[in-house]
Amino acid sequence: MSHFGGEQGSAISPAVSGESEFGPQLATFREMRRSLEASILPLATSVDGRRFSFQASLHGLELQVGGYVVLEGDGTGRLGQVLTVELDRQPATELTLPTAGAGEARTQVQVQYARGEGAVLEGDWAPFHDALVRVASGTEVRAWLQRTGRPSATLRLGELALVAGVPCAADAAGFDRHTFLCGQSGSGKTYSLGVILERLLIETDLRLVVLDPNSDFVRLGQVRADADPALGERYEKPARGVAVYSAGAPARRLRLHASDIDPAMQAALLRLDPVDDREEYAALAELLASENPPTLEALTGSNHPEARRLGLRVRSLGVDRFSVWAPGETGSVLDAVHDQGVRCLVVDLGSLPTREEQALIAAAVLGDLWRRRQERSPILIVIDEAHNVCPAEPADQLVALAAEHATRIAAEGRKFGLYLLVSTQRPQKIPENVLSQADNLVLMRLNSLADAAFAQAAFSFVPPSLIERSVTFHLGEGLIAGKISPQPALLRFGSRISQEGGADVPATWAAAR
Ligand SMILES: Nc1ncnc2c1ncn2[C@@H]1O[C@H](COP(=O)(O)OP(=O)(O)OP(=O)(O)O)[C@@H](O)[C@H]1O
Ligand SMILES: [Mg+2]
Repeated sequence: MSHFGGEQGSAISPAVSGESEFGPQLATFREMRRSLEASILPLATSVDGRRFSFQASLHGLELQVGGYVVLEGDGTGRLGQVLTVELDRQPATELTLPTAGAGEARTQVQVQYARGEGAVLEGDWAPFHDALVRVASGTEVRAWLQRTGRPSATLRLGELALVAGVPCAADAAGFDRHTFLCGQSGSGKTYSLGVILERLLIETDLRLVVLDPNSDFVRLGQVRADADPALGERYEKPARGVAVYSAGAPARRLRLHASDIDPAMQAALLRLDPVDDREEYAALAELLASENPPTLEALTGSNHPEARRLGLRVRSLGVDRFSVWAPGETGSVLDAVHDQGVRCLVVDLGSLPTREEQALIAAAVLGDLWRRRQERSPILIVIDEAHNVCPAEPADQLVALAAEHATRIAAEGRKFGLYLLVSTQRPQKIPENVLSQADNLVLMRLNSLADAAFAQAAFSFVPPSLIERSVTFHLGEGLIAGKISPQPALLRFGSRISQEGGADVPATWAAAR
């Protein structure tokens, strides 16, 4: 028996040239195989009416992971979503070919085809067999989306990646769960986060507090010159409710009073350990309890050694030189956190000169939101670069406090109307409890299959094959799933309405000379 290989260049089996002594037989063989492969019907079967398996020809294959199909059979059309597609091959038939000599050669024809699985999205939920599978048209997908639309506001985030011209919308009501936004550096997380925030501002009444370590959202209240005119107009009103608090801003200076922060945070700020530094810790507690706290000068010049040591500690840590303190000025950023007149507070952490001050403000804002949780005022707490703001392994006590508050809000905040939207490129560096509490996923391009595997483990409510697809995403492409999109969808994010803040450094240095 002779064995004939695949087509020239095939990676699957060694190629055999048609110039060989088998030339005529090869031609017959290839033609036979080609027509067998081309005639494989796109058919689907479901034993439970919810999931289906399918086969299809590799010739002109249009079925893609995440794409939508219509399954036609028994006079019914069901809409489905493809979840896996893989190559398969089977010995389909045996051929007998004449050889140049007197004898014959018998060979098996290996037929290659596509095989996969999918989910039925709509239909009668009855099992079916050998339903014809075809790619759903834009009109069909759009009609399905309209039929399944919810009564709550929808946030138009962009277009479905695999169905040109069909909008992709998130269910605004789904933001009453925690949301995790993840993707490699430069995948478009911040830009897309901006799209989500803009749509929330336009379509809902939800208040937003944005912890912004890179000053990316400082122009969230300013409409871009090239914004869609209709959207730009609708955005004008909510844009007026965007309040940006920055270190250098004259009107909305990012400031805090020592009295705004609780004793645990004061101790963290001074890196005091309640056990190892108990005398100083006690002196601090006494000071905080006193009606008229002494000045730093009085502390350093005090006759009490603990008070003096405390004063020196403040000075040597440089805490007294923090730009956020505002002696003599009234009000702090925490007032804006709770000011119902502020629709969206951008806390411009990136404007602060030191990491300590960033951590202090982040911890103070998160701590304050948690402390006043009984007000039950719904608020979306957005944390960009969350692996720095609330990391799993904090570098110091202050960051640890911010991470603790974030973890507590993740665990218990929801019932008080405290919802998180956490964005990061390092999901492994986020406290596990924050990750595990997220019911919504927005996924941009991931670096590697290892990152995809991590996301698959953390977000078991999303079909793993869709998460895996993220390694092929381009800039601005993503996946949304969870309560914001009960049917996971691949999308291309739309254009921003407001201006981007700390844009990437332009690569003019690389321009051709
Ligand atoms: N949908 C989009 N349309 C047009 N430009 C985009 C889109 N998404 C992202 N960009 C641009 O791509 C660049 C990188 O995007 P972005 O800063 O949002 O990425 P990132 O994932 O937040 O990166 P990092 O992890 O470094 O913060 C930016 O210059 C941004 O303007
Ligand atoms: Mg970013």
